[in-house]
Amino acid sequence: MITFQYSHLRSVTEADVKAFDSRIARADEAIRNRSGAGNDFLGWVDLPVNYDREEFARIKEAAQKIKRDSDILLVIGIGGSYLGARAVIEFLQGVYYNGKRKNTPDIYFIGNSFNGEELKNVLELCEGKDVSVNVISKSGTTTESAIAFRIVREYLAKRYTPAELSSRIYATTDRSRGALRQMSTENGYETFVIPDDIGGRFSVLTPVGLLPIACAGIDIDALMAGAAAEREALFSAGLSNDAYRYAIVRNLLLERGKAVEVLASYDPSFRFLGEWFKQLFGESEGKQKKGLFPASVVYSSDLHSLGQFMQDGSPILFETVCTLSKPATRDLTVPFEEANADGLNYLAGEAMYKINKKAMLGTLLAHEQGGTETLLIRYDVKDARTLGELIYFFELSCAASGYLLEVNPFDQPGVEAYKKNMFALLGKPGYEEQRASLEEQLKNI
Ligand code: PA5
Repeated sequence: MITFQYSHLRSVTEADVKAFDSRIARADEAIRNRSGAGNDFLGWVDLPVNYDREEFARIKEAAQKIKRDSDILLVIGIGGSYLGARAVIEFLQGVYYNGKRKNTPDIYFIGNSFNGEELKNVLELCEGKDVSVNVISKSGTTTESAIAFRIVREYLAKRYTPAELSSRIYATTDRSRGALRQMSTENGYETFVIPDDIGGRFSVLTPVGLLPIACAGIDIDALMAGAAAEREALFSAGLSNDAYRYAIVRNLLLERGKAVEVLASYDPSFRFLGEWFKQLFGESEGKQKKGLFPASVVYSSDLHSLGQFMQDGSPILFETVCTLSKPATRDLTVPFEEANADGLNYLAGEAMYKINKKAMLGTLLAHEQGGTETLLIRYDVKDARTLGELIYFFELSCAASGYLLEVNPFDQPGVEAYKKNMFALLGKPGYEEQRASLEEQLKNI
């Protein structure tokens, strides 16, 4: 179960939240009736109850085959075609998943940068191992992923016959358009479809996320069931549901001059959920010179780096702490030591979960005192079902929050600008005109 708490905030009252009644009603209508800006990208709303069962079964079969015949799965993709799968796998299987002894393949995420050294390092890890590839791109033309895919194909072609190589490549892409769809048809790759009405950052519960997640041995039925349960719970709670409350409170804080939301967790395996959150909210809201800047930290580690700023720095931010509300099921306790040289015997027998909780509560009070307010999102269990709930909670609150801000939460016009410059500087055909002007501008840089 996911709960949202803001009742302890000093700067936000129930009356402030109530004042959003008509705005949240409009946002809700835009989402439910598909009547707002970007309404052709609302496929994620009903996805947990309305997904392609036949394809879902094929995902499981493909995952079984990959588990049987592969030591390594290379997942090629960037942005929405990357972050969700990695976030789910790291949260549920741990940051050190690849180092575990297990009957599922190691999973490496590539094609999410232009860094050749990193790709080379991953290919070295593939030496002598059986490898499968899941290449993910809705457009089928994203440069980072396309370059990585080309390099991987060349590398694996030295090892496998063309037919075997094709049988090891799984493409997740558009139903009919794009270079990757065409290559899949020509080479006979097994394909999975990214629905037209679901944008990259809302696609973790489509085959984009589900195939890698299933390959990591995670129960994708439970993940979908959690999302479906949260969908039901939120919509049946009406306009006062927690996802909408969260959307309202973060907008209220923005109106009070808090321009940065820092998503904080006390669990290192949450780090990539923070990355996923940043894309979800950053790309959905950061437009028309509006929006909260989404940041993320993992405590207590980051208390030793950013803690000073959070306590005492520019008063531009608030925190949203995501925390496990019940004791962790896998945990350690502090052992007793006769000598007590480190002075830790006062904690002997204490579960680390409890110590972590006290750190969280102590930090919350300290930060509140320093002027940094904290919103609380609690999840009661760390499992696939609850993570499905959390994903849906954030997706719905993000859409509502974007509509409260009066932006289209489902487009991303700003991400094209750097690409145009990069293509021109790289000499991509069709960009010749811009190149000379850009090179002139670069003279002093
Ligand atoms: O959310 C988005 O739309 C982006 O982050 C895309 O997912 C990302 O740019 C990758 O695009 P594609 O899947 O077309 O390769």
